[in-house]
Amino acid sequence: MSIIDFEARAASCATAAPQPTPLVSLRDVHLAFGETEVLKGIDVEVKQGQAVSIIGPSGSGKSTILRCITGLLRPQRGAIEVGGVRVDGLRTESELIGLRRRVGFVFQQYNLFPHLSVLQNLVISPVKVGGEPRARAEARARELLAKVRMEHKESAYPGELSGGQQQRVAIARALALRPELILFDEVTSALDPEMVGEVLTVIRDLVQDGLTCMLVTHEMRFAEEVSDTVYFTEAGRIVESGSPARLFGAPASERTRAFLQRASGASAPRKGAPDPIETYLTFDPLRLAV
Ligand SMILES: Nc1ncnc2c1ncn2[C@@H]1O[C@H](COP(=O)(O)OP(=O)(O)OP(=O)(O)O)[C@@H](O)[C@H]1O
Ligand SMILES: [Mg+2]
Repeated sequence: MSIIDFEARAASCATAAPQPTPLVSLRDVHLAFGETEVLKGIDVEVKQGQAVSIIGPSGSGKSTILRCITGLLRPQRGAIEVGGVRVDGLRTESELIGLRRRVGFVFQQYNLFPHLSVLQNLVISPVKVGGEPRARAEARARELLAKVRMEHKESAYPGELSGGQQQRVAIARALALRPELILFDEVTSALDPEMVGEVLTVIRDLVQDGLTCMLVTHEMRFAEEVSDTVYFTEAGRIVESGSPARLFGAPASERTRAFLQRASGASAPRKGAPDPIETYLTFDPLRLAV
C-alpha cells in the first residue's frame, strides 16, 4: 500500500470516527489473597499511545493491578484484555511468554543480570526468547542505549553503574523485545533524588514517542505532566479517574483531595530493602523460558 492509499484509508476511517478499541482494558477485576480482598472491582482503560498513571496510598493495589496485566497474578473475577487477548484466560507457560513479549515491565528494583555487560543484558532476551539473530539484536540494543543516553556504557557491568544508570538500562532492556505496552512500577522510588530526573526524562521521551505506558508513581508532578489519564486508587478500588488537570486541579472525591494534600506535603516515599514478593515475581523472560 502506498503512502497515498494509506492516507486515504486513514481519512475515511476518520470520517467514520470509530472509537479505538483500548489496548488494555480491565473490567470489574477482583483479586484476593486468601481472605484478604486486594482488588475490589477495578475498571481501567488504556488506549494505544496513551500514558496512564495510577496513584494512591501504599497498599491500595497499584502494583497488583500491573501484575494482573502481565499475567503474573490471576484475578478471581472480571476480565483483563491486552491487545484483544484475554489475559485472565491464559493458561500455558508459552501463552504467558507470548504476552510478556508484548508487555514490558520495569520495577523499582532493576534486576539486571549482574554477570552480563550492559549490551548483553539487552541482547539476551531478543536472542534467546525472541529468536533474533545476534547481530540484529546488538544493533537494536545500541539504538536503545542511545535512546536512554547510555551508549557510552555498553561494555560496563551493572555493578559499575549508578542506580539511575541501571534503571535506564533496565528500561532499554524492557524495550528490547519491542513491547506494545510498557508498565513502570515506581521506577524512581529507590533512587537518590539527583538520579530521579534522568530516569523521568527517559520516560517522558518514550511517552512523547507515542509508546503506550502505564505508570505507578509517587512523583505527582510528573504524573500530572505526562499522563493522558490519572487513576486514583484506595483500598482496592478506583476512587476516581480523569484528565490530570481535572484530577489534580479539582478532585471530585474528598479522599483524593486528602491524598494529594499529603503527597504535596511530603516528598515521595523512598523504600529501603527490596520487597521479597516483588523480587520473587520480577519478570524474567529467561526464567519463564526454562
Ligand atoms: N502475594 C501477596 N500475598 C498477600 N498479600 C499481598 C500479596 N501481594 C500484595 N499483597 C497485599 O495486597 C495489598 C495491595 O498491595 P500492592 O503491592 O498492590 O499495593 P501498592 O498500592 O502497590 O502499594 P505500594 O505503594 O506500597 O507499592 C497490600 O495490602 C499487600 O500487603
Ligand atoms: Mg506497589
